[in-house]
Amino acid sequence: MPGQGDDFRTIWLSPADDAIVQIIDQRRLPHEYRELELRHWQDGLSAINDMAVRGAPLIGATAAWSLYLAARTGGRSETERAATELLKSRPTAVNLAWAVKRVRRAMESLPADADLAAAIREEAEAICNEDIDISLGIGHHGLELIRDIARQKSGPVNILTHCNAGALATINWGTATAPIYLAQKEAIDVHVWVDETRPRNQGSQLTAWELGQRGVSHTLIVDNAGGHLMQHGQVDLVITGTDRTTRTGDVANKIGTYLKALAAHDNDIPFYVALPSTTIDWDIRDGLQEIPIEQRDTREVSHIVGELDGRIVLVNTTANNTPISNYAFDVTPARLVTGLITERGVCAASEEGLLALFPEHAS
Ligand code: MRU
Repeated sequence: MPGQGDDFRTIWLSPADDAIVQIIDQRRLPHEYRELELRHWQDGLSAINDMAVRGAPLIGATAAWSLYLAARTGGRSETERAATELLKSRPTAVNLAWAVKRVRRAMESLPADADLAAAIREEAEAICNEDIDISLGIGHHGLELIRDIARQKSGPVNILTHCNAGALATINWGTATAPIYLAQKEAIDVHVWVDETRPRNQGSQLTAWELGQRGVSHTLIVDNAGGHLMQHGQVDLVITGTDRTTRTGDVANKIGTYLKALAAHDNDIPFYVALPSTTIDWDIRDGLQEIPIEQRDTREVSHIVGELDGRIVLVNTTANNTPISNYAFDVTPARLVTGLITERGVCAASEEGLLALFPEHAS
């Protein structure tokens, strides 16, 4: 078990055998908690491709640990081959490319006779430990926003979130959920509207599960309900995650995020995006034109996974041969984003806003 609450982890090196990396099989949740063992880098690649692990920061960490496994079993050339294959797996989340680049940089600075696997292990461990600190940083800054709303109203602060930008998408705490977990620790009355998030239902299967595990009050809604709730004063704040943010503050996130931003804008509801700086792609400016949008298997749309009589089953909900498209992400333009919550503070969704917090990226 990876531990609960503060000690929870989504990926870890087996304490019994350092040839094994362990993960939670997120495809089985919420019906079954099952751990998987990664022994070869190809196991890590499959876990990313098949979404046993998902969420931008966790995808990056899994890539780093997969490179460790490659180095252990196949040395430098196998590690390079693994890096090339991993980079092709999920194109939208930039953390994957960021993590691979970071490991490659560590490899380049090593003397030829150095222990490659030990060096990559150190890098993967650092990526995971830093991700926890980053999530907590986001949590503390986002908590201020929740505190402000709590001071101004009676009753719960109602927060709407989309997809899973929770502990399960990171190493612990999450991005969008970190402020919520810290608010709960302070006994602020919070309630979360959880978008189910078709087609893969990360909201109903993962976010609702982890909020439930941590005792956070929440209600599951269908993806189309958010606008209605906003019109009726039932949403105080929207917080989502992001898979890639441009240097100008456009954000790519799970498909449907853009529609929530539009509805929030129409109803004057603050729409914040929580992100680790590892999710910022400093090389691009125009999210609509430059962020690659992953298209996934159409069976994610035609079929739904659920539990029936204790068995996890896959059910077809469409007529056979129905033409289907499955865009996994959309881009919300910066103009619809009230602010970005990062580990260094909250800023405007703009180049000026981001550079004020991350001046080292001015060029
Ligand atoms: O396809 P997924 O499940 O990997 O998509 C995840 C999301 O869209 C999350 O909101 C995003 O990665 C931010 S996670 C902190």
